[in-house]
Amino acid sequence: MKGIILAGGAGTRLYPLTIVTSKQLLPVYNKPMIYYPLSTLMLAKIREVLIISTPEDTPRISQLLGDGSQLGMKLEYAVQDKPEGLAQAFTIGKDFIGDDSCAMILGDNIFYGNGLNAKLSAAVKMADKGQATIFGYYVEDPERFGIMEFERTSDDKDSGLKVLSVEEKPANPKSNYAIVGLYFYPAGVSDMAANVKPSPRGELEITTLNEMYLQEERLHAQLLGRGFTWMDAGTIDSLRRATNFVCMIEQYQGMSISAPEEIAYRFGWINKEQLQESADKYGKSPYGEHLRAVLEDRIVL
Ligand code: DAU
Repeated sequence: MKGIILAGGAGTRLYPLTIVTSKQLLPVYNKPMIYYPLSTLMLAKIREVLIISTPEDTPRISQLLGDGSQLGMKLEYAVQDKPEGLAQAFTIGKDFIGDDSCAMILGDNIFYGNGLNAKLSAAVKMADKGQATIFGYYVEDPERFGIMEFERTSDDKDSGLKVLSVEEKPANPKSNYAIVGLYFYPAGVSDMAANVKPSPRGELEITTLNEMYLQEERLHAQLLGRGFTWMDAGTIDSLRRATNFVCMIEQYQGMSISAPEEIAYRFGWINKEQLQESADKYGKSPYGEHLRAVLEDRIVL
């Protein structure tokens, strides 16, 4: 399975912070925002990732993450000239995806919770079987999101929940479950995305793509329940909350979360020497210190 991080958009809701830099490179506590969605894809055991951003920001992101070899991964980059919609990621990424299944995560989405790996691997398995998976998260303000209506069935555990409808920012939401910015699709998603027509607001909506899978009875959902936190860090207030959250978790647990080098090392994608090289690169920062703690087996998970 391949992965895409969609990290474009103008970031105007964060002005003046994003006038000369990418939103996805802003700090969320002690690391750049993009480390969090990259870690999430890695937890799904995805090693080939395409990062899509604006003409200005793509070189900046590639300066930070390079070709991925330091993570035992393959990172590629592509430009989205204009933010014409989330579904466009799959047409931009057509050659990269090839005949594979593909997950997509938004570059400002942060996921945290015990058991995430199991939910991700269930979605990967579903994609291998030709099925798409979306994730639902309870919100108080459903009119701001893509919303899913669903029902529980007896085989929930293996295949996820049965989705009844999906709607983009509905005036009268049918549920309080937002569709978060993480999507898993089977092989063929680029061809499907090529048929998405612009919505009344002029965007190639991910919700239209999900609707197509629903029509074919190939759309399932997983709920991210009480044990999980999902945040998008796209506004001043949500960025502050994300920073506070990560700071609190890291201070209570006494260790870093969403450290891509650590994940790569624990999965055996890089060896001790490579981790040492990264730790050296991060120097005396708390992040570098965390990698040294992992290296010296002071943190055993
Ligand atoms: O955050 C989850 C929500 O994300 C979903 O519930 C909605 O169904 C989905 O449409 C999306 O809604 P938003 O209104 O949050 O989308 P927004 O336009 O803010 O874009 C989300 C991120 O993707 C943002 O960081 C900018 C980036 N982006 C957006 C578009 C439209 C791109 O990189 N390219 C684009 O073309």
